[in-house]
Amino acid sequence: MKTGISVNRVPLARRAARLVPTLPAAEPADVISFGSGHGCPAVFPDLTEAAKAALNKHRPETLQYGPTLGLPGMRAWIARHVMENGARNIGPDNVLVVNGAKNGLGLIGRLLLDEGDAVVVTAPTYFTCIPIFKTFGVSFYEVSQDEQGLVVSELEEILARIRDEGKPLPKLVYNVPDYHNPSGVTMSLERRQGLVRAAEKFGVYVVEDSPYRKVRFEGEPLPLIKAFDASGTVIVLGTVSKLVAPGLRIGWVVATEDLIARLAQLKSDLGTSPLAQRIILEFVTTGGGYARHQKNVRETYRAHRDAMVAALRRELPEVRFTVPQGGYYLWLTLPPRIDADKLAARAFEEKVGIIPGSKFYAGKGPKGLGAPTNNVRLCYSHAEPEEIEEGIKRLARAYRSLG
Ligand SMILES: Cc1ncc(COP(=O)(O)O)c(C=O)c1O
Repeated sequence: MKTGISVNRVPLARRAARLVPTLPAAEPADVISFGSGHGCPAVFPDLTEAAKAALNKHRPETLQYGPTLGLPGMRAWIARHVMENGARNIGPDNVLVVNGAKNGLGLIGRLLLDEGDAVVVTAPTYFTCIPIFKTFGVSFYEVSQDEQGLVVSELEEILARIRDEGKPLPKLVYNVPDYHNPSGVTMSLERRQGLVRAAEKFGVYVVEDSPYRKVRFEGEPLPLIKAFDASGTVIVLGTVSKLVAPGLRIGWVVATEDLIARLAQLKSDLGTSPLAQRIILEFVTTGGGYARHQKNVRETYRAHRDAMVAALRRELPEVRFTVPQGGYYLWLTLPPRIDADKLAARAFEEKVGIIPGSKFYAGKGPKGLGAPTNNVRLCYSHAEPEEIEEGIKRLARAYRSLG
């Protein structure tokens, strides 16, 4: 029913004016989806035994309200995970369990950002962070990326200029260092160290969002940016969405104890589902299934990536891209005459879903020179290799039809 309240003309809160339409959760069944970063259903683990164990062994805990900060065992497991990835002096008190990393980012925004504040993002950046930050009425500074990730020298120039002009410094730098969404780039060790030094020098937080870290196909893992942080400058966001299953809605924030305590005060839902947390804990700590699952994820998504790379080289040799060493995405650069928004619309008519690069810019693009119009993000995780073959053929048809 659409009448009711609106008839009385009760105005929405002012912040509702900043809300932007959300993307549909899924594409129509006959569309091959290279759009959203969904997992491949065939890779989702069988969690039946973990769920049974959670409900049989921990019935009161899983069906009762849980602790706002998260189950103690979950917080301890997350703290260990962050330490194993290079961070120092992290314990369960540095961890807040949240309903996925996006929920964590929203809480961080609510804690740190006032209307009129600014944040720094890479150009391009994870497109969902843009509407999340926008709800707080902030402005954006965009910093370029190259094959080593966020260009720290450019960030320092931007921050020094803001300071010299007597303007308020941004509150945080948001970055995805491992297999970046959308560019697939992994930030180098030197840049990770440099980013922490720059953030400490200018007194801004770094939000390190690393959901793809363990979806690694080649190369040695680098330490988290958090590993170089001795002063509490880096806030880590993590999630089980990309490695295990997004439907569980389990993520975490790792930060100083006082920030975590404040974030918990904002988390007004009386805690993330204890049942989902306990299922994860059972899965990751019992019987070697987690190790086998990680191997399967890596092998499957590597095969998906290889299938997409081979199909692109065959069907669209004029398109450029760097092959990512992990993660879910390929970031294509089309010849400048091709408008990626038009290509996405044509591709949809050919029944393949892609996301044009324009969606990944928070403002005017690197150095304010205008957001490029000839990039496309392709997600290879969701579709099976045969669908990837067919989807790239459809994309090539759409591309050729643009002349
Ligand atoms: C950079 C980044 N952060 C966070 C998320 C999602 O996190 P969650 O499902 O835990 O909310 C994604 C998923 O697409 C992502 O790419």
